Amino acid sequence: MEFCTSSMFSSLVVITIFLPLITADLNSDKQALLDFLAAVPHRRNLNWSSTSPICSSWIGVTCSQDNSSVSILRLPAVGFMGHIPSNTLGKLDSLRTLSLRSNRFNGDLPSDITTLPSLQYLYLQHNNFTGDLPASFSRQLDVLDLSFNSFTGDIPETIQNLTLLTRLNFQNNNLSGSIPNLNLTRLKLLNLSYNQLSGSIPSSLQRFPNSSFVGNSLLCVGGSVVLILLALIILCCCMKKKNNGGSGVLKGKTSGGGRTEKPKEEFGSGVQEPEKNKLVFFEGCSYNFDLEDLLRASAEVLGKGSYGTAYKAVLEESTTVVVKRLKEVVVGKKDFEQQMEIIGRVGQHPNVVPLRAYYYSKDEKLLVYDYIPGGSLSTLLHGTHFSFLSFL
Ligand SMILES: *[C@@H]1O[C@H](CO)[C@@H](O)[C@H](O)[C@H]1NC(C)=O
Ligand SMILES: *[C@@H]1O[C@H](CO)[C@@H](O)[C@H](O)[C@H]1NC(C)=O
Ligand SMILES: *[C@@H]1O[C@H](CO)[C@@H](O)[C@H](O)[C@H]1NC(C)=O
Ligand SMILES: *[C@@H]1O[C@H](CO)[C@@H](O)[C@H](O)[C@H]1NC(C)=O
Ligand SMILES: *[C@@H]1O[C@H](CO)[C@@H](O)[C@H](O)[C@H]1NC(C)=O
Ligand SMILES: *[C@@H]1O[C@H](CO)[C@@H](O)[C@H](O)[C@H]1NC(C)=O
Ligand SMILES: *[C@@H]1O[C@H](CO)[C@@H](O)[C@H](O)[C@H]1NC(C)=O
Repeated sequence: MEFCTSSMFSSLVVITIFLPLITADLNSDKQALLDFLAAVPHRRNLNWSSTSPICSSWIGVTCSQDNSSVSILRLPAVGFMGHIPSNTLGKLDSLRTLSLRSNRFNGDLPSDITTLPSLQYLYLQHNNFTGDLPASFSRQLDVLDLSFNSFTGDIPETIQNLTLLTRLNFQNNNLSGSIPNLNLTRLKLLNLSYNQLSGSIPSSLQRFPNSSFVGNSLLCVGGSVVLILLALIILCCCMKKKNNGGSGVLKGKTSGGGRTEKPKEEFGSGVQEPEKNKLVFFEGCSYNFDLEDLLRASAEVLGKGSYGTAYKAVLEESTTVVVKRLKEVVVGKKDFEQQMEIIGRVGQHPNVVPLRAYYYSKDEKLLVYDYIPGGSLSTLLHGTHFSFLSFL
């Protein structure tokens, strides 16, 4: 008897303490949704009435299992227009999934939405949001899709904090600046294509295909304008040097290193002994051979042009690269290194065979590219690099 009353009493306590909390939570979610709907013009009727049960009759709303709060809100293509008012959806503090894709929302995206503490899936693609991306996001985010909007400004560095992200889609916006180095180990899908992003692809994101980055015009258009300008400047410098009387024109020496008697093709004969192992690799390059390995590799001539000769070199560990040996290039070490840095950056562009490393000495200048079997040779021989280098 005693046991029974105490058990009943504790049940009563549980009910009287928690029931109002549960309904209060759901009621505040309901009010937030009604405030949102009242402020935002829309075309479809959502059947949201303050008197009907939210968990069973409101279109687009899914409650948590115990019906204590709204956990999913899916309202794609409802014909919403205008701004999302802050202090409406941003109050749904148990929301895990929010989909408002394919509406006509514009203006800023309120940061109280992106910082909802439980938010895991956020789909806002195909709207017309403008302004900067919010700097703060829920640490729980798994999918973040803000594609096909009109967002401007930089990609915030704070995206780096979203360690649970598996999908990040910012394609078709108007984002600018450089791409931050996002070390997100779980990320499976990344699309930053069709923005105004510039600079190079950070090493942490080079595992993604080129199609993740296409259509960022500044990565190539701006780059080639810079290239042409620089090429002209260097051309002027070279002509000036020649007028100053320095003959300067160098030919690769045929002696050196005792390698000339080997039957295979040679491209390293101008390498000076103390300069060995001065092969300069670009960031993000996974090759780990040194100059000596390169010189020891068996090589065959791929083609000759006014710039010099291109060789296919097969290293041990079955690594194959293309080595371009520049002939009669008169340029100082500093200038050469600067040019290489620029070409190396442009080389991140999908249509350009990437430059991986270079070697510079007075008598020998070598450029090392990826070897891509079939069809790529003409790009290599006649692509941007070639036309640029022919100015040198
Ligand atoms: C709309 O709400 C009413 C209750 O208010 C409900 O009976 C009806 O099924 C709902 N309609 C839809 C399409 O959910
Ligand atoms: C939650 O609400 C749904 C729909 O109104 C209902 O079918 C379900 O039984 C409720 N669950 C709980 C635990 O009350
Ligand atoms: C998006 O917004 C811009 C500026 O507010 C406007 O010029 C453009 O027409 C809008 N686009 C759509 C599809 O509504
Ligand atoms: C989030 O990222 C920013 C920039 O990368 C960093 O400064 C900040 O400390 C991070 N915040 C947390 C909570 O890790
Ligand atoms: C993107 O930005 C550029 C320059 O900042 C501007 O000219 C262009 O109209 C913008 N495009 C869109 C769709 O907002
Ligand atoms: C990237 O993150 C992983 C785990 O989150 C960490 O172990 C690794 O050191 C990080 N790498 C860099 C370059 O920051
Ligand atoms: C990124 O989006 C572009 C444009 O829609 C598409 O062509 C490309 O395949 C996408 N890339 C990835 C990796 O999803």
